[in-house]
Amino acid sequence: MKIGGKAYRTIWLGEDGWSVVVIDQTKLPFSFETARLSTVGETAGAIRHMTVRGAPLIGATAAYGVALALRADAADPALEQALALLGATRPTAVNLHWALARMRARLIGVAVAERAAAAYAEAAAICDEDVALCRAIGEHGLGLIRSLAAGKPAGERINILTHCNAGWLATVDWGTALAPIYLAHDVGLAVHVWVDETRPRNQGAALTAYELGAHGVPHTVIADNAGGHLMQQGEVDMVIVGTDRTTATGDVANKIGTYLKALAARDNGVPFYVALPSPTIDWSLRDGLSDIPIEERSAREVTHLWGLGEDGQPGSFQVTAPGSVAANPAFDVTPARLVTGLVTERGVAPASFEGLSRLFPELAQERAK
Ligand code: MRU
Repeated sequence: MKIGGKAYRTIWLGEDGWSVVVIDQTKLPFSFETARLSTVGETAGAIRHMTVRGAPLIGATAAYGVALALRADAADPALEQALALLGATRPTAVNLHWALARMRARLIGVAVAERAAAAYAEAAAICDEDVALCRAIGEHGLGLIRSLAAGKPAGERINILTHCNAGWLATVDWGTALAPIYLAHDVGLAVHVWVDETRPRNQGAALTAYELGAHGVPHTVIADNAGGHLMQQGEVDMVIVGTDRTTATGDVANKIGTYLKALAARDNGVPFYVALPSPTIDWSLRDGLSDIPIEERSAREVTHLWGLGEDGQPGSFQVTAPGSVAANPAFDVTPARLVTGLVTERGVAPASFEGLSRLFPELAQERAK
């Protein structure tokens, strides 16, 4: 996608041909800066501290982290150490573990002298594939938006609510939940996006609004608590979100607050879609509520807000009474029964084992072995 007229992906190789460059998402939306990663330790730090975030991008970054590790030492112990270090950075997004497992499977049989080159090639393949998967999700989701548009008077805007950031910044390019919206906008459909601010880290206000704005998509940032009201007023035609891990049965883990939007959507007859590439499906899990690990992040993300001060300088300030205790579960699980459909690279599936395995029979079978 483009920033200031220049096409970007969220991750690429530096001019030296080996270091890894990412967009520093902790600086957005006020400053567009990149960060250079030259060791596996820096890569793990970038994922943990959310310089990069979003399930598919976390996986792609970790893959390059393995390549950086092997550049320094490609022997088996170093490979295993890198996989363990990167695997411990964030617990909920399964794309991380998917990417690391894929890297291990590709590299373990490769001669030590050739491993680093093979790792770079595999990481690049993961990135390219992510772009293709997201683009295909966009095409399938576009069909849903076209159907909504067909049911409205010509030219009336189609209101889509989204939560967190599941746009191109969360992937290598295009995004998951936002890919259909970009395509709909590009073909001339009158889409308008309600952007949940997404407390506590405000990925909606800071990132989704930023990237929609950069592409010219009309949008309005709302407080997280406004969605139910807007649905009651008939102001939301569809909800679409991303996911960090979806079980084989269609239970969806996504940014905290997603479940409440699904409840409100169900109560108001608003379709609730989840967009995901197949690496986000955890075929080993059947029950999202009991089986998906939910990341608990620092209480400071709740007690403090980060933004631009009146002096124009970025900084954080406290919003809670001194001494108040805060809790910060970063994700929740929306049960499959509340999900209208899963928008994947192969089409839209019912949120169920039958629905997913019909689209991905080879993956479902692999796991059943
Ligand atoms: O904590 P984050 O910002 O990594 O959480 C991101 C989300 O919850 C996204 O909605 C999810 O990863 C889907 S991204 C395509």
